[in-house]
Amino acid sequence: MEGEALRALRQQLRLSQSELKDALNRELSRSYDKPRISRWENGREPIPEEVARSVQALAQERPRHARILVLANQKGGVGKTTSALNLAAGLARQGQRVLLVDLDPQATASVALLAERHVEAWRQGRTMAHVILREQPVEGAILPRGDALLAPQTPFDLAPSHIELAETDSRREPGFDVALREALEAVRGRYDTIVVDAPPNLGMLTVMGLAAADAVIIPVRTEPYDSMGVGLILSTIGKVQRRLNPALRLAGILPTQYGARKSVDREVLEQLVAIMAGRAPVLEPVPASAVFGHAARNGRIALEVSASSPAVGVYARLAHALAAGAPLPEAVLAPLEASA
Ligand SMILES: Nc1ncnc2c1ncn2[C@@H]1O[C@H](COP(=O)(O)OP(=O)(O)OP(=O)(O)O)[C@@H](O)[C@H]1O
Ligand SMILES: [Mg+2]
Repeated sequence: MEGEALRALRQQLRLSQSELKDALNRELSRSYDKPRISRWENGREPIPEEVARSVQALAQERPRHARILVLANQKGGVGKTTSALNLAAGLARQGQRVLLVDLDPQATASVALLAERHVEAWRQGRTMAHVILREQPVEGAILPRGDALLAPQTPFDLAPSHIELAETDSRREPGFDVALREALEAVRGRYDTIVVDAPPNLGMLTVMGLAAADAVIIPVRTEPYDSMGVGLILSTIGKVQRRLNPALRLAGILPTQYGARKSVDREVLEQLVAIMAGRAPVLEPVPASAVFGHAARNGRIALEVSASSPAVGVYARLAHALAAGAPLPEAVLAPLEASA
């Protein structure tokens, strides 16, 4: 365990260094002092294996109440799934227990993490289609970290999707729009964050995602046509807030595939900041980068395999702020360099 992870776990447990020292000394019959905890956290001294295990066990037992975060935009290909995967991985890196719910019948995130094994998940009855359409408990649909079906390095749990989930839109049922919220209630105590990846339309599944969520992030490509569609998702969010889920908060617009040197991208970003002023932050843009597609093609997550890439760094900073409950990093409109 690294020092930073120890500090993150201690903060999640809401313990001071001195309280953690007491807990460890009780548990392990040691006599560690507070400066020792500090040296571990600063990386100046290696953390003993038994301490790491003990702190992890404490963190596991802690009761939680997951924050539900949905990535939504009716426009396709804007980075919803990429953001869901990288934020889930980033939050797990911060020591959080994370569940990724794939609510898109296209099942892009599920296929990225399960490859051809997603067929087996379906056969075993472990998909969100079973939860939403057959009213099976969500516990049964979750593939926990380390599950044989899940790509081995995946640092979070996954509730996979299946194409059958597309039938949700034609189903009529009283109160159907809160079916996801109802289903997730059963597992909220086990996670710090539940990340929901929504499909590219404003149908029932997106409404369910918004009705279940505490916060929504809208990924948007910095293309003129794409940014024009933001009004539509904003108005849907407004309706969900009024009619179904007053607690839903718009955490921000997340510009994706951003080219800082392209004047069109900069203009669109400026427009977004102007349109959103006083309503919600426009977050630090995710630069266009081949690392996301490359990782996806290998069944991996960019944040896990290309941690040093600047584009991935944006997701790492966003996850860090989300985990810490800190203000989210926002877009800064720097003047264009003369060379550009
Ligand atoms: N910052 C980025 N730079 C370059 N390519 C990206 C970036 N983010 C995502 N992509 C690529 O863009 C494509 C669409 O991304 P993604 O699947 O995340 O979008 P989406 O909104 O979930 O799409 P859909 O609406 O179909 O579900 C993918 O090929 C992905 O690898
Ligand atoms: Mg997607």
